Amino acid sequence: MNKSLYLLKIFPLLIVFLISSGTTARTLSFSGPKDYARLIEGLSSKELAELKAGFSLFSKPWVAAPSSTRVRDGLGPHFNATSCMSCHARMGRGNPYSEEGSVNHPILFRVSTSNDLFSGPVPDPNYGLQLQINSLAKVQRESQVSARFEYFTGSFSDGEVYELRRAKFHFTKLNYGSLDSKTHFSPRTSPHLAGLGLIDQIDEEDILALEDPEDLNKDGISGKANFSWSPSQKKLLVGRFGHKANVPTLLDQIAGAFQGDMGITSTLFPSENCSELQADCHGILNGGDPEISDRHLGFVHLLLSSIDAPKVTRLKGFNKGREHFSKIGCTSCHRAEFKVKDRVINPYSDFLLHDMGEELADNREDFSASGREWKTPPLWGIGSLRKVNGHTNLLHDGRARSVEEAILWHGGEAKKSRERYRSLSKEERRELLSFINSL
Ligand code: HEC
Ligand code: HEC
Repeated sequence: MNKSLYLLKIFPLLIVFLISSGTTARTLSFSGPKDYARLIEGLSSKELAELKAGFSLFSKPWVAAPSSTRVRDGLGPHFNATSCMSCHARMGRGNPYSEEGSVNHPILFRVSTSNDLFSGPVPDPNYGLQLQINSLAKVQRESQVSARFEYFTGSFSDGEVYELRRAKFHFTKLNYGSLDSKTHFSPRTSPHLAGLGLIDQIDEEDILALEDPEDLNKDGISGKANFSWSPSQKKLLVGRFGHKANVPTLLDQIAGAFQGDMGITSTLFPSENCSELQADCHGILNGGDPEISDRHLGFVHLLLSSIDAPKVTRLKGFNKGREHFSKIGCTSCHRAEFKVKDRVINPYSDFLLHDMGEELADNREDFSASGREWKTPPLWGIGSLRKVNGHTNLLHDGRARSVEEAILWHGGEAKKSRERYRSLSKEERRELLSFINSL
């Protein structure tokens, strides 16, 4: 047995001690702000020990097989990054751009030629369902990506001018030939990981009750659920994770990330990231079959299930801002409240898909999501982003540099609401932003 796991087995109390506690809430132990790493109450010492093991599997780099690091070997052959933490730093949100032209690995690109409502996107014949920008030594990388920004200007009703930017992506060094002529791609940035266990617990019926696909109430907003395939439950379920609600359960999402982002196979996702047409990665040594055991996957699942919702810090203008937020129609999609078990949570999302207009479209279908639809992202935790991750890049591709820019990109079903935001006075806009940055 690996030494650290052995220690976990015999010294649960030692582990409890390693997870910082005190008068404030217990958090995971790492350097820097822990706004996305507060643990829920009532975890047993056994759970804390397992969660600590899960945090090690989450945060430490995985390596190529064979290796003396038996617990974390099996990386690749193609992968985007070597650890979960490298895209979700401090359990937070990755920064997709450092400067003009350079794309950081927390943004990834899903690719597919078409879509099936039951089995989901159909892989590109050469590249599969995701472009991996890294590979083991004897294998070629799939691609490199660069971005060029386009800038646009607009103005509020009071005349104040604003600027928006959007990235145009370029794939270079497509080492296994070109993408299929029918292939569409979808850029996705990594969200923070706080409160996901609570989202996992929301009753499907409570999400479905918010649907209005035919817009029968004539408010111009027609949310619909994404029914997506669950490898763990072996059926279609209401999706709630990913930018298009393309994944139904937290366990499916975690196992999918191990495979898609790092090339770590599990019983839920048994195939390596190596398509039939990629000859150089056939026969590369793997780290066991599967590379992460159900037990270890369970530890990472427990870890992410145990992170509490982000805490609200009321900034000046909070109450007035909340009123504007509701009055201009933001709450039609960013629903404040859900009940889970014995608790009320405030994610500010309906977990439904909405047509957000041409400007935000990726033109790639994902289960029931069209190329113009995105899941309303939860807004909780947004105010901690600068403090935890040192940036405020928002939306599915990180194009918005602030909460305000994110609002100004809203189109389609949310266009009316955006126009009402543009008509607010400077003071009202400030109050609304204060409210969102308090979440
Ligand atoms: C290469 C960067 C990258 C790596 C590595 C990575 N993630 Fe992610 N993660 C993302 C992106 C991008 C998304 C959004 C995916 C989508 O929209 O389909 C995401 C989404 C998630 C979500 C869903 C969050 C939500 O609110 O919907 C979870 C949970 C998650 N990742 C866990 C993990 C775990 C566990 C690992 C390690 C096994 C991991 N991630 C590794 C980039 C990454
Ligand atoms: C029709 C539904 C809808 C309405 C109405 C709506 N939003 Fe959104 N909102 C979304 C969706 C969907 C996204 C994600 C779009 C994307 O990533 O491309 C989003 C994204 C955001 C984001 C960025 C979140 C993140 O994590 O990247 C903010 C901030 C936001 N909305 C605030 C608002 C505010 C403020 C209003 C009211 C003016 C509003 N929204 C109205 C659906 C809506």
